[in-house]
Amino acid sequence: MSQAAPTYRIAPSILSADFARLGAEVADVIAAGADWIHFDVMDNHYVPNLTFGPMVCQALKPYAKTPDGQPVPIDVHLMIQPVDALAAAFAQAGADYISFHPDASPHTHRSIQAIRAAGCKPGLVFNPGMGLEALDWAIDDIDLILIMSVNPGFGGQSFIDSALRKIEQARKRIAQSGRDIRLEVDGGIKADNIARVASAGADTFVAGSAIFNAPDYKTVIGQMRANLAG
Ligand code: DX5
Ligand code: ZN
Repeated sequence: MSQAAPTYRIAPSILSADFARLGAEVADVIAAGADWIHFDVMDNHYVPNLTFGPMVCQALKPYAKTPDGQPVPIDVHLMIQPVDALAAAFAQAGADYISFHPDASPHTHRSIQAIRAAGCKPGLVFNPGMGLEALDWAIDDIDLILIMSVNPGFGGQSFIDSALRKIEQARKRIAQSGRDIRLEVDGGIKADNIARVASAGADTFVAGSAIFNAPDYKTVIGQMRANLAG
């Protein structure tokens, strides 16, 4: 029996949005067809950059809706250390998914439990130089695996090809787990490489500069979807 095509999700990263108009940018990119809003939290400690905190997530929550009022998931990517206190604050602020880097928490499993207990879907994030070993004892407790195809900290970087092999490995692990886990890829995703990333096994795609630097959000998201369907 042929495998049903996965439900692809496009998650624009607001790291590349106009920070002076974040609410409008979230509304515009959702109206242009975005499925999730990817919210990059950086602390200038775990990564060499500083972005925004739970208060900005709370302020944006009312904008994370489709034009007909359906909620759009806020996909919080924590590039911070330590993890737990701010993860709890983002849960309060309206996050739907909260993913963190296992090397940023001394107690990965406890951090996952705390995110789930706070009512959010937990995820683990894997940097380009990191293997998937943390999944050995966590895959049954998470809803999202986020594979970094750039080194975290900045938008506009080039896709690191070795991520394709890691995506394939992660897809195999998800199949073995028998669980419904989203496989998200983050960094350097463009309309012209998204199909290759999907064929490696990804079903959720973060794109920051490819979308927010484009003249028309609807056109570029449409190109991404067409290439995924192609
Ligand atoms: C990088 C962030 C990514 C980044 C993606 O640390 O985690 O989400 O914003 O930006 P692009 O799509 O421009 O590579
Ligand atoms: Zn990210």
